[in-house]
Amino acid sequence: MTIAIHESALIRHFNTRKEVLRAWEERIGARFSPFRGYKMPDSRLYIEWPEFLDQLVDLILTNERHIFLRGPVGSGKSTLMLLALRDLPTLADRRGNKFVTGYVGMTGLYEKQMAAAISDSLRIKYRRSWESSQIVEAVAQESVRRYIQENSRTALFLEDVADNQESAFHKLRYLADLPTQEMKSDYPDVLDEPIITLIMSGTAIYWNAMLSFLPQIADRTEPLDVPPFDDQKAKEFIGRRIYYAQGRIDSFNPDNFEIYPFDDAAVEIINEAAKGNPRDIRMLSRGCQQVAAENFRRRDNPEVDREIARLVSEAYAELLREVR
Ligand SMILES: Nc1ncnc2c1ncn2[C@@H]1O[C@H](COP(=O)(O)OP(=O)(O)O)[C@@H](O)[C@H]1O
Ligand SMILES: [Mg+2]
Repeated sequence: MTIAIHESALIRHFNTRKEVLRAWEERIGARFSPFRGYKMPDSRLYIEWPEFLDQLVDLILTNERHIFLRGPVGSGKSTLMLLALRDLPTLADRRGNKFVTGYVGMTGLYEKQMAAAISDSLRIKYRRSWESSQIVEAVAQESVRRYIQENSRTALFLEDVADNQESAFHKLRYLADLPTQEMKSDYPDVLDEPIITLIMSGTAIYWNAMLSFLPQIADRTEPLDVPPFDDQKAKEFIGRRIYYAQGRIDSFNPDNFEIYPFDDAAVEIINEAAKGNPRDIRMLSRGCQQVAAENFRRRDNPEVDREIARLVSEAYAELLREVR
């Protein structure tokens, strides 16, 4: 009985809160919260980042090293991978090789799951009954064939790579080292460079772990730090999301847009607290929406100004420290 009473009080509380938020959204012409989370956001919400993306893609094109995209959780590693995956199939390297791409987004994989996931992502057939080494061999053979016959190098993207079982890394290492000496002597003038480039992601802690536990891969891998958002990017992040929620994202012009009901000072405070991390910018913006919605209910003003941004940043500071 007591539980039922508590429950209904709680539900009432959430419903009231929802109504308050909804009223604010309606006031700014939004159909939903601009700061809701997406598993896979609409690509029109992405802030394009040509300088950094080119650097990443150029590293893949030059084919000298594997890549470890390094950054804290929420810094934009997965998003950058998606952008690179979008661009690579339209590009060719200096030798005229094109790219076959594969993307493994799952983690926690052990050996056979890793082999199967890689094979699936590269659209290479294998039998369920095969051992992981047979699957990986099929991947190796097909990648060699694609290189020789189709002038295609393979770019394999692996999310949060260190979150997989250690055994899975042996398979990765084999692929990272292709072509084998034997293959090279079978095709002496043709197979004279690596044919698979690994693009891995993870945090700095995982990179350090890789250096000590997997030097064989780490030594041939270039760590690339995801840069934090500057204030302009933070502004664009908030702007795009507001336009999107207002149903006018297609008219968004990155050189000329509004961020009302936010103001510039508020965005700068939010970005400083978030240290340029887009996930944290979203969390803080949502916090600002909540405070602004309360204000709107009481004082009819929906704005997010520096006062609100500061209040929310301070309240979240503790929380952000803990998740980092
Ligand atoms: N360039 C970007 N443009 C727009 N949103 C971004 C961008 N980079 C990251 N985000 C957003 O920030 C959040 C975290 O990004 P994500 O790529 O998942 O980070 P990570 O993989 O480093 O944890 C997601 O909600 C994502 O949509
Ligand atoms: Mg990620």
